[in-house]
Amino acid sequence: MTAIIEINELRKSYKSSPALDGVTLRVERGEIFGIAGPNGAGKTTLVECVSGLRQADGGTLRVLGLDPRTDRRVLLQLIGAQLQEAALPDAIKVAEALRMYASFYDKPADWRAVMDEWGLADRKNVRFANLSGGWKQRLFIALALVGNPKLVMLDELTTGLDPAARRTTWGLIREMRERGVTVVLVTHFMDEAEALCDRLAVIDRGHVIAEGTPRALIDKAGSDSLENAYFTLTERTEAV
Ligand SMILES: Nc1ncnc2c1ncn2[C@@H]1O[C@H](COP(=O)(O)OP(=O)(O)OP(=O)(O)O)[C@@H](O)[C@H]1O
Ligand SMILES: [Mg+2]
Repeated sequence: MTAIIEINELRKSYKSSPALDGVTLRVERGEIFGIAGPNGAGKTTLVECVSGLRQADGGTLRVLGLDPRTDRRVLLQLIGAQLQEAALPDAIKVAEALRMYASFYDKPADWRAVMDEWGLADRKNVRFANLSGGWKQRLFIALALVGNPKLVMLDELTTGLDPAARRTTWGLIREMRERGVTVVLVTHFMDEAEALCDRLAVIDRGHVIAEGTPRALIDKAGSDSLENAYFTLTERTEAV
């Protein structure tokens, strides 16, 4: 298997407190890789470092064979990111947003085709502020894909969605994998991680405390579900 992301002993501190305290991970080509963990564990910081949006303080990081610290510009062309705090101007229309994002890339996809593929054509003239949460998420997925990325980073994409919209989004994420895109998915939902992720890492206080397939983590914790495994694994570190 080919590693799309190779992270070794990655460290990042804000002021004096460490957000990433020696993270080591490997994400293989074509997988949906989950990142779970309590609030403040360092998940968004990790995603931002991998995406070239934040500089790590120590350790090594290779993403698509590049170092985000030195090859940031090239890397930004190859990655699609939906960030946790993502927002667009209220007045921007769906089609305008897609056209604008496409213009950021040297080799974008045909933004009109992406708009069609993700079911957004009927809403192309709707302003961002007037989209429901589910349609906003769908637009963010389309925006993450409009640059024709090889790697997509999704940070809490389904938070705030109703159960039906969440299931629809799962289908969209699987579709990305079928198209050969590697997906990193930060999620707090263990049913989501179990349904979607080929492998996942549980992060707590800047450390990877468990990593593997959902099945392997369930077995490791001696649990009957990934949700129970998650509680067992994160409680163990609480007691340390
Ligand atoms: N810009 C920042 N300045 C200072 N501290 C920060 C900053 N961003 C994050 N932190 C701190 O770094 C730690 C990790 O934050 P991060 O946002 O990476 O966690 P997270 O796992 O994504 O949490 P959540 O599940 O709440 O999204 C936290 O203690 C947080 O307070
Ligand atoms: Mg976060």
